[in-house]
Amino acid sequence: MIAILGAGSLGRLWAATLPAGQVAFVPRPEQPAGQLSYRFRPFDGPEYQVRIPWIMPSHRPSLLLLTTKAGDSLPALASTLPVLPTDTPIVLLQNGLGSQQQVAERWPDRPVLAATTTEGANRPEADLTVHAGQGDTRVGALNAAAKAHLNEVVHALAESGLTVHAEPDILGPLWQKLVINAGINAFTAILNCLNGQILDQAFYQQWIDPLCREISSLLLAADQPEQTPEALRGQIEAIARKTATNTSSMRADVLAGRSTEIDFINGYLVGLGRQLGIETPVNQMLTERVKQLN
Ligand SMILES: NC(=O)c1ccc[n+]([C@@H]2O[C@H](COP(=O)([O-])OP(=O)(O)OC[C@H]3O[C@@H](n4cnc5c(N)ncnc54)[C@H](OP(=O)(O)O)[C@@H]3O)[C@@H](O)[C@H]2O)c1
Repeated sequence: MIAILGAGSLGRLWAATLPAGQVAFVPRPEQPAGQLSYRFRPFDGPEYQVRIPWIMPSHRPSLLLLTTKAGDSLPALASTLPVLPTDTPIVLLQNGLGSQQQVAERWPDRPVLAATTTEGANRPEADLTVHAGQGDTRVGALNAAAKAHLNEVVHALAESGLTVHAEPDILGPLWQKLVINAGINAFTAILNCLNGQILDQAFYQQWIDPLCREISSLLLAADQPEQTPEALRGQIEAIARKTATNTSSMRADVLAGRSTEIDFINGYLVGLGRQLGIETPVNQMLTERVKQLN
């Protein structure tokens, strides 16, 4: 049995695709017992109804999948982990960086793994979850206690039929995704436009090179492979073109009046710069501008 904490878009995607009867959602404390029922529209094929039980005290999950937003990770886990055996692997699926390290530091003896996914899911209606984009999910150990669990976790998640790989060094893929998110998401939120539309905007063109210079210095100081500012800009723009008609999650959060994950994207880079003595005025400006939108 896999326990999923966070019954939002991504949590519902995993719950719908994992084998029926082998998955349960972790309820919020006030949630009445029973099950969560919703319509699921797979990437290919017709829509169908999914019923996932809320986990019962008698259930012994083999792993916990955390699918809350990054800012909710610590409080959600703090209320769930006391009832979970200490050797249950925890898989963190949050975007950005920072929340994963907070969890690994707070529970150093628990097996903590992190994952990064290019699957896309959304909820155009409260009871409809759509698998909007197919991709893959990379999973790796964040601490020593997790290393022995990696293969079993990958095997269990691959039962979903989604593509899942083991990563020997998960920080690399997390950084790669962070770079892309840092170069696209805040601009789409501030300019209130689709991913591809940032490229022609004066505000983006003014700030993208100094932003990439900051990220390039931070990558080096954080022991990540060296990447020139020009190479970073090339990667960011390639993804902006490839996802030209997408609305980023940050823009969607702003439009829906939800708090964003900016603290774990450009905001994470500001905090890291502070620790490492690297100036990050562009990341700071983007973080503040996005916060003002909330
Ligand atoms: N959606 C995607 O396609 C996608 C792709 C890649 C990565 N990600 C990342 O995956 C994470 C989740 O994204 P999402 O789109 O699934 O977000 P989401 O739709 O907002 O889902 C998060 C869910 O967590 C629940 N939650 C928050 N605190 C909780 C707690 N203490 N106990 C139980 N449930 C709690 C929320 O409940 P309420 O609704 O009641 O607040 C919400 O249902 C984010 O870090 C995101 O960046 C998402």
